Amino acid sequence: MSQSPDSESTATGAAAGSQKTWSQRFESSLHPAIARFNASIGFDIALIEYDITGSQAHAKMLASTGIISDEEAAQLVQGLEQIRQEYREGKLQPTVDDEDVHFAVEHRLTELLGDTGKKLHTARSRNDQVGTDIRLYLRDQVGQIRQQLRDFQAVLLSLAEQHVETLIPGYTHLQRAQPVSLAHHLLAYFDMAERDHERLGDALKRINCSPLGAGALAGTTFPIDRQLSAKLLGFERVYGNSLDAVSDRDFAVEFLAASSLILVHLSRMSEEMILWASEEFRFVRLKDNCSTGSSIMPQKKNPDIPELVRGKTGRVFGNLQAMLVILKGIPLAYNKDLQEDKEGLFDTVNTVSGCLEAMTILLREGIEFQPQRLAEAVASDFSNATDVADYLASKGVPFREAYNLVGKVVRTSLAQNKLLKDLTLAEWQELHPKFEQDIYEAITPEQVVARRNSYGGTGFEQVRAAISRSKAQLQG
Ligand code: ARG
Repeated sequence: MSQSPDSESTATGAAAGSQKTWSQRFESSLHPAIARFNASIGFDIALIEYDITGSQAHAKMLASTGIISDEEAAQLVQGLEQIRQEYREGKLQPTVDDEDVHFAVEHRLTELLGDTGKKLHTARSRNDQVGTDIRLYLRDQVGQIRQQLRDFQAVLLSLAEQHVETLIPGYTHLQRAQPVSLAHHLLAYFDMAERDHERLGDALKRINCSPLGAGALAGTTFPIDRQLSAKLLGFERVYGNSLDAVSDRDFAVEFLAASSLILVHLSRMSEEMILWASEEFRFVRLKDNCSTGSSIMPQKKNPDIPELVRGKTGRVFGNLQAMLVILKGIPLAYNKDLQEDKEGLFDTVNTVSGCLEAMTILLREGIEFQPQRLAEAVASDFSNATDVADYLASKGVPFREAYNLVGKVVRTSLAQNKLLKDLTLAEWQELHPKFEQDIYEAITPEQVVARRNSYGGTGFEQVRAAISRSKAQLQG
């Protein structure tokens, strides 16, 4: 962040060369390069509104416990509100000399209120303050990401409703296995997103716990009321141990881990979209609003959106890894290492939110499934082979015997360039006398799908039931 020591603005932070908050202890000022190295203001400014809200609650608590007067608290709350406005209007320009967002706000408050401004930090440390800020920030962001997951699920559900009877090859090992309802395939992602939503909700329980009042590490000599400040900030609980309160970042790891899984899911879907849009598959067509061209190959239409989502997965996993390494082995309680928690968190919030938005748009208006091509795909392979074996098994032939027999049919059919549906009844009966005319009906893709009616299977009845369950989850 650039320094503006001679700015005319009435709302600058600490001017360069002004006394640092802790400078009385020191004989000389910080080396300018070290000041820049030490400062977090360049990124933690993103926390300013949470810092202000946290400080307002702290001020009210100080008045309610008689540590400062009601009049002083009112001035502090009002002064902080003014700083919020100044920030929103772009008038607050903190510098490296402010070091971080907490000092930037305190410096400006002291400019505005004089000695009263200096009372705000009574019975508090930046250690419990920064912990409060990150938790308030994350609580907000997690709420928004959970809403975005709901939007993503809603699009999946509406596509699923349109495509119950659209069939698509189902794969294992990326080899055609058995056909499934396209709705069933889409609802698999719905269920993943449901777990993501649930996981973030669970992480919120730990995020929403107040460290405020833990002081630097050991609590405070003042008769504070931690429950009150927690309540004012909407925290559900307060930390029971002050050392843990100021040094815990487990909740950040949980958020990053939950985010990594969201990206695992989105990258899997991305990979499928990329494959499906290729000439080799042609299961979907990319629309112009969500695809890009090549600068040299005029015929190309590229799936940049899912590719970017797949690529961005790397940085989210990286942020999780970084956070774990930052935390590993640091002794109690606060250590400056913890200042490194923020950029990865901010980046993850932005990345997850951007990816969810892009994938939701892609599904809603950027792709078109190709029903004709999908119908051809499911009718032109051996993905009904299991059903031939099941047919014989249901007529009393031991499954393994039926399986071996069908394996043989597949091999000879392949050699003759035929599909199972092309075999004559005489050929079937030569293979096994239990085959009858109804074998043809049993191996149509529609029957193959319809009959997988076990709970959670792809049978149309099951898929319709899954759609109802999903609807209820979205409303609940
Ligand atoms: N900027 C610091 C951080 O982000 C605030 C806490 C500083 N505390 C300290 N004891 N130096 O972690």
